[in-house]
Amino acid sequence: MRVICVAAARPNFMKVKPVMDALEAKGAEVVLVHTGQHYDPSMSDVFFEDLGIREPDHHLGVGSGTHAEHTGQVMVAFEQLLDSNPADVLVVVGDVNSTLACAIVGAKAGVRVAHVEAGLRSRDWDMPEEVNRVVADRVSDYLFAPSADAVENLRSEGYRDDQIHLAGNVMIDTLLSNADRARERDVVSRLGLHPGAYGLVTLHRPSNVDEPEVLEDLLGTLGEIAGRLPLVFSVHPRTRAKIEGLGMPDGITVTEPLGYLDFLALQASSALVLTDSGGIQEETTALGIPCLTLRTTTERPITISDGTNQLVGIERDAILRATSSVLDDGVEPRCPAIWDGHAGQRIADVIMTKADTSLGPRPTDLAAEVES
Ligand code: UD1
Ligand code: UDP
Repeated sequence: MRVICVAAARPNFMKVKPVMDALEAKGAEVVLVHTGQHYDPSMSDVFFEDLGIREPDHHLGVGSGTHAEHTGQVMVAFEQLLDSNPADVLVVVGDVNSTLACAIVGAKAGVRVAHVEAGLRSRDWDMPEEVNRVVADRVSDYLFAPSADAVENLRSEGYRDDQIHLAGNVMIDTLLSNADRARERDVVSRLGLHPGAYGLVTLHRPSNVDEPEVLEDLLGTLGEIAGRLPLVFSVHPRTRAKIEGLGMPDGITVTEPLGYLDFLALQASSALVLTDSGGIQEETTALGIPCLTLRTTTERPITISDGTNQLVGIERDAILRATSSVLDDGVEPRCPAIWDGHAGQRIADVIMTKADTSLGPRPTDLAAEVES
């Protein structure tokens, strides 16, 4: 069994690692392809070092661009690669543009496509990731859902039960297997902080950082919080470009994007996390740390119903109210039961037992169409 695994951007590396490991342990030949969507050492290399991921077998070197430029260039480069490197199964993870590009190419090349993190829906069509999720799911043969709500989304869209697999959360596999190593990091003291006495911030959604007025308002709100609780702000490259020229309020320590282990250590010892990231909503839930999500929608509602996350939007008063409430009263730590560190193994089990035996109908045959 030859399996191509694609990784492209920061949130992909921690998702692909447990799947690769589990597939290799079961005897699959795994080929790792990096599209190059993220390329700064702090957005890519550091994850290979921290997580012990081997060098990619192929690097497409595509880099940044508009949505169409990036997606198109990855499609062209990945099609050429697949032509000369045929595979039985293609594994794509998450919802970035490279995920979409490779899934489409794989589907047309007749490779069985496995989408890890299938079924998440924000129902916000203005998010590029929502388009990527819906289309990647639609062209995939195996839909690996991280949680029961994602399974329900897929069922309601007409996917067949034999396509849908409740696998659990690969990002949490990686968190659990690295938690001890993260605890040994000295990043909290290095930044002059004390455990439980600071907040951690990330922002990179275009809707929050691309408009200077919106970003400036958010910085003002963070500045008010920093009057009560020191904040560490790990600045994403998209945000870095927009933040220059805007004043940074007192009490906020700005850092470059941090490595996985340092960032995990900072999350685990924080009083709260303020973020618009997808993955960080999940990691804070697994760690039992309060998370305030500065967005109006989430594709991960399970982190609210069964976790420590709250959707607070971007209005100053709502953010300040939620911050006070969390700091004064705390949150109940809870986590979906299936986020147990074994998602990669469940995925590898399905790929290795199903892909070479009962291939079944292609995903074009949705349940509704099959019935009619
Ligand atoms: C991308 C994903 C987003 C994900 C985020 C994770 C899409 C549509 N967006 O957003 O879903 O949450 O990654 O971090 O796929 N840049 C650098 N160095 C890098 C990478 C990017 O400087 O290593 C800068 C470039 O100016 C680039 C900009 O960041 O144009 C945006 O990068 P891009 O990959 O297009 O989108 P992200 O905002 O990173
Ligand atoms: N992360 C990191 N360093 C940082 C910020 C985030 O290692 O400075 C990790 C974080 O722990 C999680 C992943 O990056 O594992 C989330 O990626 P990101 O927020 O960029 O993307 P999203 O999940 O929103 O797509």
